Order: sequence, then structure tokens, then C-alpha cells
Amino acid sequence: MNNKPIGIFDSGVGGISIWKELQLRLPSEDTVYLADSKNAPYGEKSAQTIVQLSCKNTELLLDQGCKLIVVACNTATTNAIDHLRAQYPVPFIGIEPAIKPAALQSLSRTVGVLATRGTLSSALFHSTVNNHASNINIIEQEGTGLVELIEEGKAYSEAARALLRSYLQPMVASGIDHLVLGCTHYPHLIPLLKEELPPHVIVIDCGEAVANQTYRILEKKELLAAPNRKPKHHFYTNTEPALLTTFLKDVKGEIKVSYKDF
Ligand code: DGL
Repeated sequence: MNNKPIGIFDSGVGGISIWKELQLRLPSEDTVYLADSKNAPYGEKSAQTIVQLSCKNTELLLDQGCKLIVVACNTATTNAIDHLRAQYPVPFIGIEPAIKPAALQSLSRTVGVLATRGTLSSALFHSTVNNHASNINIIEQEGTGLVELIEEGKAYSEAARALLRSYLQPMVASGIDHLVLGCTHYPHLIPLLKEELPPHVIVIDCGEAVANQTYRILEKKELLAAPNRKPKHHFYTNTEPALLTTFLKDVKGEIKVSYKDF
């Protein structure tokens, strides 16, 4: 048993979608969450900068005694996870666009991927497509501007709807029957996505798979916390904490949100 916290980081509030899945699967675990909103969006930055930011976040989480780190950001995972695994002694769980399940399930053989430029241009994304979807028509779409709107608290706004519509319509016209959400911010757009997508298009997001994988690795490495604990959750943001707090309003349990300059 190991009651040290799980560390989680993202470029902002996107990883809260992953954090919520972790709570469901691992209800006894303490967590420390870093929202690097000051540096969002990561998706528009160079691979080298994304690696530097990911190292900075990892070191802060290690200073907090984290036993495992969930990189709750597709852009950071696809650009930096190999580097993080080589450099730091704790296990890392990453998230990348769920191309494989979408490709296996697609009847139209046409799958849309909505992700950041940083993810779509990464070597890891290209090798995943080559390995699991070489016979599928993959329609890639950069979600430019969506992360900024979500970070401004405008996930359900006319501006977000207009942008999303302009990204979805060409994919729908191409015949997609699955849409892969390749950015952890985008599950916050699900109410709008449901309104804007035809009902036959299935939205795939892999937050639950990340939580299951985290459980498996903790169990395998004998790092699970004692059962039936009352966990503590500490969220750090390097911008105004009000936005992060709104994403946690329905959450029960011991939660603390703090500003930290990082
Ligand atoms: N939420 C992140 C992701 O999953 C990063 C978005 C961004 O900062 O561009 O890709």
C-alpha cells in the first residue's frame, strides 16, 4: 500500500475530465493537480517547449511526493512522454487520441480526429495512425481557438458553437461515423457536440481507459492506496482560481484550490 498522491497535469482545466474518471476508478487515492493555464494552449507551441513545460510540471509534482504521474494532456503525451519516462523515476500514464477503437468500430471507414496542432503534428500520432488505421480515411482537424474559449469559461457559448460547427461540418460531409476527441479540453464541449453532430456520429474520448490503465499500473507496482480512505485533492493553478473551481462545483470530498506561481 502507498498513500502518496497521484500527480496529474494539463495545460489548464482540460485534464479535469480525466481527473473525474480517476475519482470514479480510484476513490481512495489522494491527488495533486496542476493546471498550467498560464501557458495554454500547449497545442500551438513547439515540441521542444512542450517538453520543457512537461518537465517543469513533473518536477513540481515530484516535489509534492507524487508516486505516479498522469499526463492528462494529449499534446504533452504525444510530444513529451518518452522524454519524461527516460528522465524521471516514477511511472507515467499518458493519453493520446483513441484512433484504434474508432478504426475498429467504424462502418463508414471514415473517422474524424479533432485535436491540437501539437498532437496532430507529433511523430507518436502519425505512428498510431499507421499502425492502427492505415486502411481508414482519417479526417484530421485542428481545433484552433477551442482551448482558449474553454480556458476563458466559454465552453458553452455562441463563439464556441460557431467555431465547432466550422470544424465539424466538413468532417460530417466526408462521412465520418466516429469522432475522436484528441484533446482533454474537448469533453467540456460535449453538450455542444451533441447539439451539433448528427446522432449517428459516435464521440470517442478515452478518459475511462486512462483511469483503468492507472489502476492497473498502481496495482502491478503495489502502489495502490489503502481502501476506504477519505482522500484529499489539491488543485494548483497559475492563473485566477475561479475558473478551475467552477469545473469542480459538483465534486464531493476534501478539495482545495490554490494559486501558485509556476
Ligand atoms: N488539454 C490538452 C490536450 O489534451 C492541451 C490543449 C492545449 O493546451 O493546446 O491536448
